[in-house]
Amino acid sequence: MKHNKSIRPGISMVLGMLLCVVLAACGGGGNTSGTNASGSCGSPPKLVKKDHYKVGFSQNASNNPWRLAETASIKAQAQKRGDTLVYADAANSGDKQVSDVQSMIAQKVDVILLAPITEKALVPAVLQARAACIPVILIDRDVDHTLAQPNKDYVTFIGSDFVQQGKRAADWLIQNTGGKAKIIELEGTTGASPAINRKKGFDDEIKTAPGMVLLASQDGDFNRDTGRKVMATLLQAHPDVTAVYAHNDEMAIGAIAALKAAGRHPGKDVIVVSIDGERDALNAIINGEEGTSVQSSPFFGPVSFQTIDQYANGTKLPDWIVVQDMQFTKANAQANLANSF
Ligand code: AHR
Repeated sequence: MKHNKSIRPGISMVLGMLLCVVLAACGGGGNTSGTNASGSCGSPPKLVKKDHYKVGFSQNASNNPWRLAETASIKAQAQKRGDTLVYADAANSGDKQVSDVQSMIAQKVDVILLAPITEKALVPAVLQARAACIPVILIDRDVDHTLAQPNKDYVTFIGSDFVQQGKRAADWLIQNTGGKAKIIELEGTTGASPAINRKKGFDDEIKTAPGMVLLASQDGDFNRDTGRKVMATLLQAHPDVTAVYAHNDEMAIGAIAALKAAGRHPGKDVIVVSIDGERDALNAIINGEEGTSVQSSPFFGPVSFQTIDQYANGTKLPDWIVVQDMQFTKANAQANLANSF
C-alpha cells in the first residue's frame, strides 16, 4: 500500500525551488502587467482581464470515472469559451504533478486550475506559481492551510464539503441499520483532503450512536481494485462485518466484488455506502447491492471558468466556493442514471 509517494519531497520539488529562484530573478512567467516576484503583482496574483485565457489544468490522475468526468467538464467549458487549455495528468504522482505545474509556469499560462493529489504535496508548486505571478484556483481538493492560504497564496478553493459528505453517509447508515452495525471503512488516498475530511465527518457522526462499531479503517487509494483487495483482506480478519463505508464509489464497487467472492450478500447481510454518485454505484443501488451514494459532483467546468471571470473582474471571492451535492438512494437513483458518469 502506498502512503508516502506524494508527500515525500522529490527531485522535482528541489528542481521546482531552483525554477522559482530563476523566475524570481528574471521576472519571468506570469500574465499581469508589471509582474515580478515576491508578490508585487498581488497576493494572490491578479489576473488581467482578457477575451480569451491560456488556462493550465493540472489533473492528479485519470484512473476512475470521476476524474474522467471532471477533466471532460473542464475541457468542454474551455472549448465552449474559446480558451486555450494546457492540460496535464499527473498519473497519481505528487512529484509529477509538481513538475506539471512547473511546466505550466514555464509556458506562461494566465491562470492555473489545480486539483492537488494530497494536501501537502502541491504546496511548493502553489507557492512557485504565486512567485511567478500566476494565480492558482484549487478545484476539487484543497491544500493544507497551515502551509498555503486562500486569498493569499492561491485565489480560492472550489469543492464539496467533504466532512458533510461523510456525515451524510453515516446518518443514512445509522438510520438504515437501526443504529447497530459493525463497519469496515475504506479510505481514500492518504493525505488527500477528501480522504481526511470524509473520514472525520463519518467517524465523528457514528460516535453519536453507541451501536455503530468501527472494526477497521484502511487506505484503498480511491481505486476499485485496491478497494477490492483491501476489503478481501479485512473480511478475513473481520467476518462479523455488517456494513462498509467507502470514501468513493470505485472502492465500494470493489468491496461489493470482494464480498460476493467471499460468499456474502451485499445489500442483505452487509450494507454498503459510499460517495461520488457514479453510474456503477447508481446501478448497484438500483439492483439492491448498495444502500446510498452521497454525491460529489465532478462537473467543475462551468464553476471554474465563472470563477476565473469573476476574479479577473475584481470580484472579492470567498476562501471556499462550496459545491452543493445531492444524495442518491433507491428513491432517486434510476431518475438520475442518465446524468451520471
Ligand atoms: O477529490 C474527489 C475524489 O477524488 C472523488 O471522490 C474520487 O472518486 C476521486 O478520485
